[in-house]
This record gives sequence, structure tokens and C-alpha cells, in this order.
Amino acid sequence: MTTTTVEVENLGKRFKDTTALEGFGISAESGTVLGLLGPNGAGKTTTVRILTTLLRFDTGRAAVAGFDVARDARQVRRRIGLTGQQTAVDDLLTARQNLVLFGKLFRLNKAEARERAAELLDQFRLGEAADRSPKQFSGGMKRRLDLAASMILAPQVLFLDEPTTGLDPAGRREVWDTVSHLAADGTTVVLTTHYLDEADRLCDRIAVIDHGRNIVEDTPMGLKRRMGADRLEIVAADPDDLPVLVGIVEPLADGGVATDETAAAVSAPVTEPVAALTAAATAVRDKHLTVADIGLRRPTLDEAFLELIGTTGKEEDRT
Ligand SMILES: Nc1ncnc2c1ncn2[C@@H]1O[C@H](COP(=O)(O)OP(=O)(O)OP(=O)(O)O)[C@@H](O)[C@H]1O
Ligand SMILES: [Mg+2]
Repeated sequence: MTTTTVEVENLGKRFKDTTALEGFGISAESGTVLGLLGPNGAGKTTTVRILTTLLRFDTGRAAVAGFDVARDARQVRRRIGLTGQQTAVDDLLTARQNLVLFGKLFRLNKAEARERAAELLDQFRLGEAADRSPKQFSGGMKRRLDLAASMILAPQVLFLDEPTTGLDPAGRREVWDTVSHLAADGTTVVLTTHYLDEADRLCDRIAVIDHGRNIVEDTPMGLKRRMGADRLEIVAADPDDLPVLVGIVEPLADGGVATDETAAAVSAPVTEPVAALTAAATAVRDKHLTVADIGLRRPTLDEAFLELIGTTGKEEDRT
């Protein structure tokens, strides 16, 4: 049975003259991963701090694990875990000692804390490294230890603020696997990220946030569809050909055509990539043009954001 474990409506938060959140809403079903995706300053950490009872909000309503965040903060705290942007473990202790310490902070007695530490070391594949200092750990191992520390009480809802920032690809994959397993075991995970690939890989739903507002919320598949999954790109051999290339790409495009003068490149989102590529290549041949490159590529995160934010901006203008 699934239930909604995170429910946020119309959330508003101001810091003096900065509006960090305005009319913001999200929801997450139990055992799913919800991603908050947005650029710097979008309001991701503010949302996480509010939902973990660390920060008061001005307007709206927020409930976590069935309890109101403002009224029942203590009940909420018992049911959540949080891994912040900074690592919380102590380099002077071993991994095991760190987890025992966290257990005691959560009021487990000595025997319980030890037992829980052993379980978590096993669950997070840190058994062999248990009696070493995290100082000697790779970034991925350190993050796993952080995650283990936030799982002491087996929380219903786990909040992760940028869980993989600063990790190399192997470390990121380790954390991704860990998070996927936790969700499969029934934990609801809310994570923030800048990375589209991370959101894509991990999340059941993604809420895109910018300037404290909802831009769009969708499944990763739906989001990619909205972004016009592929882009047709032609790089000119002679920059003087750029206008002609724009003329070729324009009728094939499903969205704005972007011209990059420095790279001598023209690109645009296309909904039928193979047909568009074929048509573009034919036009280039028919006009006897020489191009440096012609092909399909995925949109970059920047383009994806620009497209999403641009679209909603236009909708706002209309109302
Ligand atoms: N304690 C504070 N005092 C004043 N302004 C703040 C405070 N905390 C956050 N802000 C502002 O609120 C807005 C949202 O910040 P927030 O930290 O939530 O963004 P974020 O999405 O987590 O960004 P990042 O990706 O850089 O971590 C920003 O404009 C930020 O400057
Ligand atoms: Mg942040």
C-alpha cells in the first residue's frame, strides 16, 4: 500500500528581502524517490531545512510522515533522517565508533547502538572498513557512512541534500545504488541535485524548482519528453554559412534555434530525430555546403533548464 509521506502546499519563505520560496508545492508517495532539481539559489536547501524542522516557514502547509511540520515537529523528527551538504562524520573516530556515537545521540543504549552500528556497516557495505578512520575513505565510502549515520532510526523519510556533489563517477554510482536500495526497502527519499543525469537515474518523480517556485513536476521520462529529448546540431566549416544552416534547421526544429557564433554551431530540439537528421543532411548536400559536423545530441542541462524556465516564463506572461 502506498501513502503520501511528504505533502507540501503553497509554501512561502522570505529571508528579509529575498523570497526563497513562493507558492511552492511537492508530494511524494512512500517508498519513492522525489528529486528537487534546480540551479543555485533555487530554494532546494531551504525546502529541505523546512521539511526537517530546522527552519520555520511563513505561509502554506507541510506534512512529513503524516505529521504537520510546524505543529508536530517532534513527531516528524522521529521519523526522518537527513544527510546535509557537508559530511557529518568525525575523522578522529573509526566508522564503527562514529555510528555508535550517532546511535547514542539518538538515545539508544550501548548494546543497541553497537548492534545498530553493525547492521548499518553491513547494509552500507562498510564491514571491511569498519575499524578504520573515515579519513582513509574514498569520497563514496564517506558518503555511504554519512547515509548510514542518517539511517540510525530507520527513518520513514530520508532527506539528502546534494548527495553526490564532489564525488567521482564511481562514488556517485555507489551512492545511487545505496539510495535505490533504500527506496526499494520502503524508505521515501527526497533529494536535491543539480544534475539531470542523477535525477534521471534515481528519481521516480522530479520537481524542477527555480526562484522558489515550481517550474514543473513529472517523471524523468515525461520531463525528458518536455525537453525535446534530442537536438539536431550542425557545425559550420565556414562561419559565413551560419545563416544558411539556420535556414535549414529552422523548419525541422520543435522549439527555438540556438546559434553559437564561437563554435560556429546551429542547434535546435527535434521531436523526430532521425527524420530531421536525414532532412538536414540532404539539404546540406543539395546546397553543396561543407560542414565540420552534423549530428544528434542530448540537450545539456543548461539547455534543458533554459527551455523549461523559458516555457513557464511565457505562460506567466499570458496570465
Ligand atoms: N539564512 C539565509 N539568509 C538569507 N537568505 C538566505 C538564507 N538561506 C537561503 N537564502 C536565500 O534563499 C534563496 C534560496 O537558497 P537555497 O539555499 O535554498 O538554494 P539552493 O537551491 O539550495 O541552492 P544551491 O544549489 O546553491 O545549494 C537564495 O536566494 C539564498 O540566497
Ligand atoms: Mg543548497
